[in-house]
Amino acid sequence: VPEIGCLSIIVLGASGDLAKKKTFPALFHLYCQGFLPPDEVHIFGYARTKISDDELRNRIRRYLVSERSASPSEDVSKFLQLIKYVSGSYDAAEGFQLLDKEVEKHEIKKSSQEGSSRRLFYLALPPSVYPSVCRMIRKYCMNKSDLGGWTRIVVEKPFGKDLGSAEELSSQIGELFDEPQIYRIDHYLGKELVQNLLVLRFANRFFLPLWNRDNIDNVQIVFREDFGTEGRGGYFDEYGIIRDIIQNHLLQVLCLVAMEKPVSLKPEHIRDEKVKVLQSVLPINDEEVVLGQYEGYRDDPTVPDHSNTPTFAAVILHIHNERWEGVPFILKAGKALNSRKAEIRVQFKDVPGDIFKSKKQGRNEFVIRLQPSEAMYMKLTVKQPGLEMSTVQSELDLSYRQRYQGVTIPEAYERLILDTIRGDQQHFVRRDELKAAWEIFTPLLHRIDNGEMKPIPYQAGSRGPAEADELLAKAGYVQTHGY
Ligand code: BG6
Repeated sequence: VPEIGCLSIIVLGASGDLAKKKTFPALFHLYCQGFLPPDEVHIFGYARTKISDDELRNRIRRYLVSERSASPSEDVSKFLQLIKYVSGSYDAAEGFQLLDKEVEKHEIKKSSQEGSSRRLFYLALPPSVYPSVCRMIRKYCMNKSDLGGWTRIVVEKPFGKDLGSAEELSSQIGELFDEPQIYRIDHYLGKELVQNLLVLRFANRFFLPLWNRDNIDNVQIVFREDFGTEGRGGYFDEYGIIRDIIQNHLLQVLCLVAMEKPVSLKPEHIRDEKVKVLQSVLPINDEEVVLGQYEGYRDDPTVPDHSNTPTFAAVILHIHNERWEGVPFILKAGKALNSRKAEIRVQFKDVPGDIFKSKKQGRNEFVIRLQPSEAMYMKLTVKQPGLEMSTVQSELDLSYRQRYQGVTIPEAYERLILDTIRGDQQHFVRRDELKAAWEIFTPLLHRIDNGEMKPIPYQAGSRGPAEADELLAKAGYVQTHGY
């Protein structure tokens, strides 16, 4: 049931990259689809830069026009008119008092409508200012409507740098807001095929009996980008590929691949099962880690000359439970590689007593391609068409572009922002989940930070260090034919 009343969306860090490239375009698409009715919704940008409403609108404008909007210029102008700008610092009262006044003005203007006022604060900011911004919101900007309503905050990764700092951040925010008010975004949870994982696993009889250590040999979750850290070297060097991609995005995907069936689709039931997976992961063995750094990474003037930060990593995780004992989960991510792709590859064991000698054709493999070109396909052995009784590897293929022609797949941020408005925390990371995720990677990250483990140089535009392929082979992965 949609809530009635007015909704204020406040984007903090409004002139920054994340807001311009992701938050405002996502809001725009929601607006175009009627999820942000102009007579209920007002959007506020807040940042330190002193600019006018129109200047902010002009900065955002060019990121809004895409092939997705049917009548771009008209829609864009109407949407931009919903945005007001307030400037102020992130740790002083004045700015937030002013912001509160502006939001209230809008709420009063809409007071002829029945219902409560809702305030959504989107922190498109570096985590170093989260505690002060949260304090300011708590003190000056909470929803004050007598008719109920709510105040929610959305935060982005990186949530800390290791277990200690993440827990400290969680405690600071936790003292100001209750867990149901905090939405920790991991945008991978908003991707269509990531959201499909639960349906795929628990609504299909096919998979139920096969999804375990008896049938699955290994699971690979891979992220590749064909560009480097250009323009973000300063940020990236402090974090590295494990914190940037593996500890959050790939680990979240792992949870959905490995978790048990939740009691129901209620967010708490789903998140309970995800936490159990994370808590069952064994400590990482250094022998099962390959780190890489692409040549040229240190040429970026914002990256220190002797940086030890990995831009590539392959890490094997073992889940110590009845379903997965002995099945390696290979998480692999890299920047400046030869392609851009994110996929899950579930590789099945060989057929016992094979009479076709089909092993040389490759194993059964179920691939879920998250991007680009969303697809799911099953690699299987079939008879080579023709007179001979020989086998060949082929695919059962569900490519979304062909199967769902004309259907627009929403952007991850669009979906997740809509969830925050609706109050659905299913696709957001709970505090204990975050803690368990940091527990897995913190010892390894500390060894890397202390220089005890060094990344292997690899050529930009390559597959990454050859040592990673060796690690995969050792883990049992058999290369299947390309598709
Ligand atoms: C972000 C990382 O979280 O995800 C970036 O900080 C990365 O380094 C990006 O490029 C990848 O997102 P997507 O949706 O393009 O796969």
